Amino acid sequence: MLDWLTLLARWAHVVVGMAWIGASFYFIWLDNHLEKASDPQFAGELYAIHGGGFYRAQKYRLAPEKLPATLHWFKWEAYWTWITGFALLVLVYYANAEVFLIDAEVMPLSQGGAIGIGLASLVAGLAVYEGLCRSPLRNSDAGLALAILVFFALVAWALAQLFSGRGAFIHFGAILGTIMAGNVAHIIIPGQRELVRAKQEGREPDAKYALAGKQRSVHNTYFTLPVIFTMISNHHATTFGHAWNWLVLIAMALAGALVRLWFVGRHKGAAPAWTLVAGLLLVGVVIVALVPGPQANLEPVKLEDVKRIVGQRCLNCHAEKPTLPGLAEAPKGVKLDTDERIRGQASHIRETVRARLMPPGNITGLTNEERVLLERWNP
Ligand code: HEC
Repeated sequence: MLDWLTLLARWAHVVVGMAWIGASFYFIWLDNHLEKASDPQFAGELYAIHGGGFYRAQKYRLAPEKLPATLHWFKWEAYWTWITGFALLVLVYYANAEVFLIDAEVMPLSQGGAIGIGLASLVAGLAVYEGLCRSPLRNSDAGLALAILVFFALVAWALAQLFSGRGAFIHFGAILGTIMAGNVAHIIIPGQRELVRAKQEGREPDAKYALAGKQRSVHNTYFTLPVIFTMISNHHATTFGHAWNWLVLIAMALAGALVRLWFVGRHKGAAPAWTLVAGLLLVGVVIVALVPGPQANLEPVKLEDVKRIVGQRCLNCHAEKPTLPGLAEAPKGVKLDTDERIRGQASHIRETVRARLMPPGNITGLTNEERVLLERWNP
């Protein structure tokens, strides 16, 4: 049942996440492509063709003369993304805290302690971000961006001192996602409500809402690629399994923001090429830095030894018929019960063992010597 719930929550999360980010990317694209409109009441307009028809989009300088009967809002995509994301965090990381969240070699936390720290990190992350955005820094976009960057670098480092690599990455992403959804709920949507209210009451809208809303929208756009990196990188032990995983996280998040900077610039016509180059270069540096060093000139590891270790430490889960109670199928279809299958999975075995992802929570007591042996095995 937990597996089904996780699958359904993940499906929903990806779908509503696409709806949210899709709409968000679309409106940024729209805003940045507006051309001068012939009618002065419009800030801009553009024509587009899609799905077999022409569209004409016009943006009002302020608001239409008369409010339309139907006004479409974009907010539930964001809220549902957060709700399903939080459900997934609970189902995957909190329901299986010993397996996915806690790494006793990083910090021997209890299940309750780890979950408590995880939840507190979401609240604290949001509070510090709000504090920064409301401080005098808010008057300088660059100063605020730098402060947020430094803060998130600290968050990445701190999380990596507390949780497993995966647990740290997912909490980094969850903090960012919480901030993004919070920006929609507490700043952007209330600002839009104020616009509508002002129009109904026939007065000028309070400009402070519009300014804050704009700033938070800009933040959200640069958070998008980093968040998506954290959500998918937890399927790649190469990234979160490294001893310096927090540095990997900072570099990849920064690279994502830089690449997004380039796309936003490109909509306006003049894309600052250095942002794309710097982003891709950063990814290249991370890739090169994570290449494992040359192996010492030791005796090659024998398949017999690997089979013995796998038989003791992995087979109760990764077999045709797993013997671990409650496990119906080999996880991720990884079966290690024949020589052929073990050889075929050699690089995955190395990678998951090096990242200390397998065995989960070291439930079968893989020793350090055995770990080193599996890491060295190169058939
Ligand atoms: C208690 C059961 C259990 C044991 C023991 C176990 N695994 Fe796993 N293994 C899992 C689960 C659960 C997953 C799926 C993890 C996920 O969802 O990311 C998995 C996934 C994997 C994967 C695929 C990873 C991926 O992301 O594609 C590999 C490879 C793997 N295990 C190797 C091993 C090796 C090697 C051992 C022994 C040293 C081992 N496992 C021991 C439960 C186990």
